[in-house]
Amino acid sequence: MMLYFVNDSEQHDARLIDLFRNLSDDLTTMMINENFFPLASELPKSVEIPKVAGRVLIDGQIITNGFASRVVSSPCTFRSEKDQSLYFPEIGTTPQVTAETFMQAVNAASSAWARGRGEWPSARMEERISAIAALRDRVLKQREVICRLLMWEIAKTWTDAQAEFDRTITYMNDTIEATKQLDRDCSRIQFVDQIMAQVRRSPLGVTLCMGPFNYPLNETFTTLIPALIVGNTVIVKLPRFGQLLWDFLLEPFRDCFPPGVINVVNGTGREIINPAVRSGKIDVLAFIGSSQVANQIKQSHPNPHRFRSILGLDAKNPAIILPDADLDLTLNECIRGSLSFNGQRCTALKMIMVHRSVAKTFIEKFSARVDQLNCGLPWDSGVMITPLADRNKPSHLESYMKEVLEKGGTLCNPKTGGKTLGSLFFPAVLSGVPLDSRLAQEEQFGPIVPIMEFDRIEEIEDYVLNSQYGMQASIFGRESKMVGRLVDFLSNQVCRINLNSQCQRGPDVFPFTGRKNSAEGTLSVTDALRSFSIRSMVAAKQDAIGKEVIQGVLDGDTSRFLTTNIVL
Ligand code: G3H
Repeated sequence: MMLYFVNDSEQHDARLIDLFRNLSDDLTTMMINENFFPLASELPKSVEIPKVAGRVLIDGQIITNGFASRVVSSPCTFRSEKDQSLYFPEIGTTPQVTAETFMQAVNAASSAWARGRGEWPSARMEERISAIAALRDRVLKQREVICRLLMWEIAKTWTDAQAEFDRTITYMNDTIEATKQLDRDCSRIQFVDQIMAQVRRSPLGVTLCMGPFNYPLNETFTTLIPALIVGNTVIVKLPRFGQLLWDFLLEPFRDCFPPGVINVVNGTGREIINPAVRSGKIDVLAFIGSSQVANQIKQSHPNPHRFRSILGLDAKNPAIILPDADLDLTLNECIRGSLSFNGQRCTALKMIMVHRSVAKTFIEKFSARVDQLNCGLPWDSGVMITPLADRNKPSHLESYMKEVLEKGGTLCNPKTGGKTLGSLFFPAVLSGVPLDSRLAQEEQFGPIVPIMEFDRIEEIEDYVLNSQYGMQASIFGRESKMVGRLVDFLSNQVCRINLNSQCQRGPDVFPFTGRKNSAEGTLSVTDALRSFSIRSMVAAKQDAIGKEVIQGVLDGDTSRFLTTNIVL
């Protein structure tokens, strides 16, 4: 593999010259010294990546030019050999297509759909399953480069990058099995009140898939694969970060599906998405991102009732720590729950509510643990906190901190909390977070942990009731009466209540959804197959002509829909 690394002498970002601005002298010399980030020459060979010049896939053609490109620089920060200044290395380019080119991709998907008569939507289930299995085998061959790019593009740790890849393959395998089972369940004729009927699931049409930057492979595939396997045609618009890895999937996509069934394009969302949706040619929106963007996209459709949406959106999952919580267990779960991948998970714990009787001990221990977390580059051994892909994020997080501190909150880990170095933001633990601060209300999606103390359970109930979000919650405690009361209350507010464990999506057999601004539709291996399809049925009276016609079709194997054949 060839390493592509830009000449570091001139190209680094001038804004980084004063990277140590927030660091006390003390700290700088103690732990985040001038050698915190490596020189390019110190880069381990095991993480080298090839130069990527991003391409697009439209109508079965991989296109290399004719569109603008944007330089992609990695959040993984390096020191210049020349003057020791810090810089973000350039690792490739990504396409920036115009609204017209994006529309070509929509038209290609629309032609492949052919108002439901295309080769793919008309294919037998076993043909679609074979194509997805072939795709899985081709994707598997790209494991190494995709995992490395996940490190370089979004600073996901090597362990987490591999986990993201592997769970994606598992999701594909499980989807294949679930599809076979669904097909088998639908391969029988039902007899009710003198009516004979066969009920199957049919595709919906042209689907726009937009995944998030924190799981650019996995979460895009958890909508893409079910959408494809049930017979829809798809346009993938790449996530904000985590784009280069998609280039290694274009040939597999091209080779495994008929032209136009899957198109992969990238550009500036607000310029290309809304005009395409306004055309009315997109039937399904699969979007994982912010509720604000989801609203804008949905409102663009000329016939909203014909626009099926499957959305994974914002969250503000609370951890509720009761007086009898097991402290060690709670600390471990809250550290991982709030700060895995720098808190950039929709399922992260985004507000910790701790009973006043245990708050002091919890906050002290939690802050001390946070101060000890390994910070560095994603390939460093044992690292947990890495640079943020979004260069604007540190200043955004700083503004949350500033407001909380101005309103009387406390920074519990002042030694490192909230310091920045490049786009690395050292996790900040804030207690006494006032209810009227933005940090109490908004999804921070980053390494900042708000803590609120409570005396009465009603304070938790008020907070959750007034929240705009309703994805998950975690309860830490044992006393059954209190746990039972909270479970009953939360079951009408969120969609997963985790007992003595952090919030999480998996395993994917369980429903993943949310209320309020957190989701629309449900994703799991089986739910996704339903979300991307609609039931169609064929029915006949159970009389002589009905029996004769159905028997004739079955015996002659003249229909792919009306058949009792099963996928083995
Ligand atoms: O970002 C949202 C992901 O679906 C979270 O998945 O809980 O497995 O990290 P996870």
